[in-house]
Amino acid sequence: MPVGAPHATVLGLGIHRAERIVPNADVIEAIDSSDAWIQQRSGIRERRWVGPDETLETMTLEASRKALASSGIDAAQIDAVIVATCTWTMQTPALATKVAHALGTQSPVAFDISAACAGFCHALALANDMIRAGTARHVLVIGAELLSEMTSRTDRGTAFIFGDGAGAVVVGPSEVPGIGPVVWGSDGEQFDAIRQSTDWREVLASDSPEMPYIQMDGGTVFRWASFEMAKVAQETLDRTGIRVEDLDLFIPHQANMRIIDAMARAMKLPEHVRIARDIAEQGNTSAASIPLALGRMYDEGQAHSGDLALFIAFGAGLSYAAQVVRIP
Ligand code: UT7
Repeated sequence: MPVGAPHATVLGLGIHRAERIVPNADVIEAIDSSDAWIQQRSGIRERRWVGPDETLETMTLEASRKALASSGIDAAQIDAVIVATCTWTMQTPALATKVAHALGTQSPVAFDISAACAGFCHALALANDMIRAGTARHVLVIGAELLSEMTSRTDRGTAFIFGDGAGAVVVGPSEVPGIGPVVWGSDGEQFDAIRQSTDWREVLASDSPEMPYIQMDGGTVFRWASFEMAKVAQETLDRTGIRVEDLDLFIPHQANMRIIDAMARAMKLPEHVRIARDIAEQGNTSAASIPLALGRMYDEGQAHSGDLALFIAFGAGLSYAAQVVRIP
């Protein structure tokens, strides 16, 4: 039987922001909107979209290499690679296998997971469990999305929201807890609230096939996220055995600045807890949003090694996952 480590911890972070800065002015005409409306309703000022030489794979590799360098772990020590994404356009094989090979890892277990915007927190929970169960020692966890390719430029409810990027962490064994218990779940009754516009079979049957895009019933998701996620946040703190006052950082999925504020109010976050607001300049990058948001907090001097952060993510399916993390 494999022997697991007592605990797991995040050893290092790497991020990659897509290179093209796209201000609101560039998206409003096609949806009859305005910079003021987008900022007021979502908090987004600009988003990042890929340049001509960037792909989901290149962004994933960039973030992964930086995560390995910052954690001081060699690619050969990685025995599992998990990519959380909903924008890898190959049904099979998994992007994780390609990335693992390109990084120079040695035949690790490698797979993708589909849990939309909650994917990074799902993958982190899996890594934590694998290390403690002894089925892996060092796990590379990646959230990566190329959403600009799956965004309709004329869909009023989503054209201004999404961005591209990747974030990765290396998770390894530890004597002390670095990742708290996960609280996760889904509500398949609301399967249609955020969805791919068309099934691939419908695309093939069409006379004028088009890339499917993400559609969203924004109001439904907004209400669900604002109220239900604050309860999940509290449950996560309770299961971890800490109080909201013990947190240093609140890093929710970057879906909408008003949802972030509503959750912070409902949780009664004390003043000293720094809140991630990466969405303003990055847009919503689904599975990549939490590591990207953490990256900005380091860059802006808001996050420091050893800080206690609450990660909480939610999205299509309506799936969600949250955990408390001691950041590297
Ligand atoms: O990452 C996955 C999880 N995703 C989310 O959590 C997203 C959650 N939802 C949201 O972020 C928000 O629902 C949106 C930002 C998408 C929309 O904001 P909203 O405050 O829910 O707007 P709404 O859809 O209720 O529309 C309000 C008004 C409507 O006009 P009336 O009926 O009040 O006259 C819309 O027709 O704004 C109008 N509208 C727009 N106006 C300018 C809707 N879309 C636009 C637009 N530009 N793009």
